[in-house]
Amino acid sequence: MTSTLTLTRPDDWHLHLRDRAMMEGVLPHSRHFARAIVMPNLVPPVVTAVDAATYRDRILAALPDGQDFTPLMTLYLTEATDAADVAAAHGAGIATAVKLYPAGATTNSASGVRDIDKVMPVLERMAQIGMPLCVHGEITDAAVDIFDREAVFIDRVLDPLRRRLPELKVTMEHVTTADGVAYIESAERNLAGSFTVQHLVLNRNHMLVGGIRPHFYCLPILKRGTHQKALRRAATSGDPRFFVGTDSAPHPQHAKEAACGCAGVFSAPVAVAWLAQVFEEEGALDRLEGFLSQHGPAWYGLAQNTGTIELVREDAPVHFPASVETGAGPVVVFDPGLPLHWRVKD
Ligand code: DOR
Ligand code: ZN
Repeated sequence: MTSTLTLTRPDDWHLHLRDRAMMEGVLPHSRHFARAIVMPNLVPPVVTAVDAATYRDRILAALPDGQDFTPLMTLYLTEATDAADVAAAHGAGIATAVKLYPAGATTNSASGVRDIDKVMPVLERMAQIGMPLCVHGEITDAAVDIFDREAVFIDRVLDPLRRRLPELKVTMEHVTTADGVAYIESAERNLAGSFTVQHLVLNRNHMLVGGIRPHFYCLPILKRGTHQKALRRAATSGDPRFFVGTDSAPHPQHAKEAACGCAGVFSAPVAVAWLAQVFEEEGALDRLEGFLSQHGPAWYGLAQNTGTIELVREDAPVHFPASVETGAGPVVVFDPGLPLHWRVKD
């Protein structure tokens, strides 16, 4: 028997669209989302108000006819970022947030921040005007094990920063550990977190046992099952500080299936369906709408969307196409290889 679930249209609070042919190919696959926070880690990065405005125009021009989608732009924080330009971009409605990449933490992060002191004037200005900082929370110290990088970042960078600047609104993006969840839950205010689909559905065993699966490799890397459990509990708890940010990050298939494969999971086409699956498994379908469609807008000070989407539950497992074609080559779609019973009605 099929059943359906009607929800307020969701938003994706962390999305990589890339540019040009890749962007054209992946944009239609975010059609269930009304808005998305768009990541600025292009080459070269989206640093200034002008960069963000022109990137936004390219996204809007690449949208297929009839796709109702609003990109919410971010500025890539560098040690040379101009506080006045950031404030002007926010005031003019060009940029929703600023993104902090520790230099070297992930894909195209070379222009990111090495020394947080150098960006304090920008962060102080953001705190004054209420502009959120989206954070890739991983320490880049080569001596720190990759599985510990989130927890160490909280101790060494994020917590000291928040003590120094309590008025700064911080989104900890793609939280992957029980430490991250506990840190957000312990905060009195000005801290929220997003979760990706893959970190809720999988743990590191799925990526590494029985062969290495490059399409599950992303940063922050999948963690052990105890962390996955903590994320699933927090995401399905109804706590408004947690919401979806897919971090859907397309790379051409050949760049993933390589001796040194790129980090990133392309989950946009299947994200809503898999989140319904997770919430059903946790007995929390009544909280799915909060996670997908309500908590994020409230955190970013935006209205909820007015449209709806319909989710259909099928008895027989649902399958999606294994990859999508783009002008930049095929991109493999996230497929955890576990039973999925949900789809979004188009
Ligand atoms: O896995 C990831 N891919 N993590 C990031 O932080 C960046 C992203 C990308 O741009 O490919
Ligand atoms: Zn990302």
